[in-house]
Amino acid sequence: MTEADLIIRRARLLTLAPLKEERPRTGASAGDVGAIDDGWVASRDGVAVATGRGDAWQHLERVPDAVEVDAEGRVVMPGFVDAHTHLCYAGQRWNEFVTRRSGADYLAVLERGGGIHSTVRATRESTDADLLGLLRRRLDRAVALGTTTIEIKSGYGLEPEEELRQLRVIAALAKSAPIDVSITYLALHALPARHADDRRAFLSDAVRAVRAVADEGLAESVDAFVEKGVFETEEVRPLAKAAREAGLAITLHADQLNDVGATAFAARMKARSADHVGSASADGLRALARAAIPAVLLPGSAFFVGYPPPDARRFLAADVPVAIATDHNPGTSPLEGMPTAIALAVTLCGLTPQQAIVAATINAAHALHRGDRAGALVKGRRADLLVLDTDDERELAYRLGAPLVRDVFAGGRRVFG
Ligand code: NIG
Ligand code: FE
Repeated sequence: MTEADLIIRRARLLTLAPLKEERPRTGASAGDVGAIDDGWVASRDGVAVATGRGDAWQHLERVPDAVEVDAEGRVVMPGFVDAHTHLCYAGQRWNEFVTRRSGADYLAVLERGGGIHSTVRATRESTDADLLGLLRRRLDRAVALGTTTIEIKSGYGLEPEEELRQLRVIAALAKSAPIDVSITYLALHALPARHADDRRAFLSDAVRAVRAVADEGLAESVDAFVEKGVFETEEVRPLAKAAREAGLAITLHADQLNDVGATAFAARMKARSADHVGSASADGLRALARAAIPAVLLPGSAFFVGYPPPDARRFLAADVPVAIATDHNPGTSPLEGMPTAIALAVTLCGLTPQQAIVAATINAAHALHRGDRAGALVKGRRADLLVLDTDDERELAYRLGAPLVRDVFAGGRRVFG
């Protein structure tokens, strides 16, 4: 047997191991966390080599300075996969948050040149070094809260040139990050005011930028905010086509506040995921289910903006794979870390705690096209794992805001704890 350089034993081990073939979980498997009581996991050079039950770990060969952790009955599980964040921004939006809570409408604020546009102004003004510093701090906090794979979007540049600058800063972060970073070019987030009279030119510049992004290897996916008064499906089609031609994945902010048919459109475009989707129609859900495309639910933005949260049970009943993410951004979801997203997904969206854990690990990995690499503790996958300060995983959903993440290992290396 391969020698181990890391063994974590005496755990309540949640493997999230595939039942037969690996595919996004739906139906009865949507809440199957693959628990092994008195379980252990071993890894070598950052890759899981074995899992098991009881004392069998004692027979493992190990390298001379192998790390051994006695979990003493605590939950050990895959690191969280945060499949949707807007981590790259400067400035804050306290004022908007407060005015919105007293009734201002999110889309009306955007229409008046606030909202996303105010973060665009602050982000454009910040230097690469400042932005990288902000990103590093935010990433470190995400890691401390258990995230071992994270998606990070651009989107606060709007103009292609500024979007490319922000993508380069995110790429610099990814290079030095202790965890896996999946970068997305959010090409259509809002229309810059100076393009009010030439939407078309702005749209075709974004399409051209997709090619530049692919040529420079700056992102693996392309995103757009498809929403009433923002961008329409037909405006996004050429962008999606360009992404596909350039070998990039597609993911969409779809039907967040209004049903504009974006969820079914995402399925037609063979998107990697359809995100938000709280207002998606039954047709949209059927389309996702048929194509086995995960819906990434983002309860943080519903909570902070105050619109009805996505009803996870509708998605489960329609056999749509459900994932969850933080949507961390300064406008709609300043929430940090997946444990809070899990708690909100249970209290607001109606997932069970175990379904929320599936949604935050293996299904989220599928939403990032990493369903065969991340999100589960299985031989051959990266050893990204957490030791929680509890012997019952339901506590993640129950003790809102409690610091339950005790140790974080990414690629077999301790990165927190
Ligand atoms: O996922 N809805 C569009 N984009 C972000 C919010 C961006 C912002 O308000 O700064 C979201 O909610
Ligand atoms: Fe978002």
